[in-house]
Amino acid sequence: MLAAVTLLLLHLLPAHGHSPAHNHAHIMIARNALPNTWFQPRDHAVHALFARDDFPAVGSDAWVASLPPFTPDGSHTPDITKLPQAWVDAYNAAKAAGNIPNIPQSTTGGQYPNNLDPMSTEICSSYVKCRAPEDLFNVPDGTLGLNFDDGPTEVTGQLLDFLKTNNEIATQFVIGYSIQLNISAWQLLLDSGHDLAVHTWSHRQLTTQSDMEVVSELGWSMNIIYLSTGGRVPRFWRPPTGDADNRIRAIAKYVFGMEMVVWNQDTLDWGLTDTPPETTPATIAGQMNTWLNGAKSPGLMILEHELSNLSVAAFMAAYPLMKSAGWDVQSAARLVSTNGAYRNSPGPTGAVTAAGLLDFKGDGPAGTTNSTENISSSASAVKPPGSVSGTGTKPASTASGASAKNESAAAPISSSPAGTGGAIRLNIAWFNVLVLGAGAASVAYMML
Ligand SMILES: *[C@@H]1O[C@H](CO)[C@@H](O)[C@H](O)[C@H]1NC(C)=O
Ligand SMILES: *[C@@H]1O[C@H](CO)[C@@H](O)[C@H](O)[C@H]1NC(C)=O
Ligand SMILES: *[C@@H]1O[C@H](CO)[C@@H](O)[C@H](O)[C@H]1NC(C)=O
Ligand SMILES: *[C@@H]1O[C@H](CO)[C@@H](O)[C@H](O)[C@H]1NC(C)=O
Ligand SMILES: *[C@@H]1O[C@H](CO)[C@@H](O)[C@H](O)[C@H]1NC(C)=O
Ligand SMILES: [Zn+2]
Repeated sequence: MLAAVTLLLLHLLPAHGHSPAHNHAHIMIARNALPNTWFQPRDHAVHALFARDDFPAVGSDAWVASLPPFTPDGSHTPDITKLPQAWVDAYNAAKAAGNIPNIPQSTTGGQYPNNLDPMSTEICSSYVKCRAPEDLFNVPDGTLGLNFDDGPTEVTGQLLDFLKTNNEIATQFVIGYSIQLNISAWQLLLDSGHDLAVHTWSHRQLTTQSDMEVVSELGWSMNIIYLSTGGRVPRFWRPPTGDADNRIRAIAKYVFGMEMVVWNQDTLDWGLTDTPPETTPATIAGQMNTWLNGAKSPGLMILEHELSNLSVAAFMAAYPLMKSAGWDVQSAARLVSTNGAYRNSPGPTGAVTAAGLLDFKGDGPAGTTNSTENISSSASAVKPPGSVSGTGTKPASTASGASAKNESAAAPISSSPAGTGGAIRLNIAWFNVLVLGAGAASVAYMML
């Protein structure tokens, strides 16, 4: 285990090297406002991509078997020839529809072949702080969005204890491979009631990856959250080292229906343990003083990490000033969207509903089949984790082709008291369609 942790750190730390030399001099901000809308059609296929009819206990054999194999030797990038066919189909449909632009892979964040300009509207590299219209990086005036990257780790427990003591909820952008490394820390996160969001499977700079590698990195990390929370579909993701471009944004959006969240202040706390360190606790304390005593417009989305006891300590040291300076401290996911961190649940402890699932027609832009007709229409609470049973029923039909283009137009999420029902159930016939439709290889990791 120690060797595995060391390998992970060896892998993570260089990847966090945001070299200041790469920071572009001018910052393009296409839009600074908070969208209170969802840009996916309501019939987006995202739910079907993670469909299953059971939610095995976290850490159980069935749970482990539903993930890419754990490879403690460090070769942990999931095998892209073993992706669930539904993801491949969704990608192919989005590509064929012209939704995924042809942008060459970067050599490293912000650096493209033939000196292509990373700030161009075609590429818009977030690594060099180009902001695309849909990027979420600000929060409302007077608010401070708590967010932590790179969990779970050995200091997750420490951070969670502090947040609990102070009655705070945060958004945790988690790494799939780190969950495999420390499942008990993941269980702490699941029990904590924090909002969970995607920070990829193995923390690669995504612009250096092929389209299918990006599908794999996003899909598997969505899947582990879905699988561990009784079927919650994450709404948000954050690119490792802040590195995305329009190709990556499009894959996240059109294949998986996710919105990208970045930040508006950065402590570089990931570098506190580097040799030499990228920053010091004193430097961070100074920055925090400036930001927290500064103007309250826009609100603050400070990038923070739970990578080391030093980074956690830097947050804990700043927290009293967050409160005394009058900031409205909330989970980042709840500030960038009134709909919260999940597409099909009001939160980590509320009901998981069939809202959205029912609207899926199988013929949306990233749709793959007509096979989603038998998703349960019962909005029911889920006890995460643990398997439950129920009976699939035919959903209420919705107007053919109807597709609200934004979330505010969607039906309100219904809820029922926690603990009263079963999980969202997928009819077995439907489930079989998905499994049988998948290639033999792709069944290897998932869905069974
Ligand atoms: C796993 O995480 C927990 C909670 O943060 C920590 O107490 C424990 O030491 C970690 N285990 C390993 C092997 O790192
Ligand atoms: C932080 O972690 C390091 C390395 O694990 C350890 O040596 C140090 O004592 C820890 N410091 C605190 C304050 O926990
Ligand atoms: C989906 O339904 C349409 C219309 O009923 C039909 O033409 C098409 O073949 C179906 N596709 C699949 C994959 O079953
Ligand atoms: C959906 O469920 C209903 C009722 O259980 C059943 O009659 C119907 O054949 C199912 N349709 C599919 C496509 O499985
Ligand atoms: C979103 O939906 C609401 C309610 O139907 C509507 O008032 C609003 O104009 C829509 N916004 C966009 C951007 O389509
Ligand atoms: Zn990270």
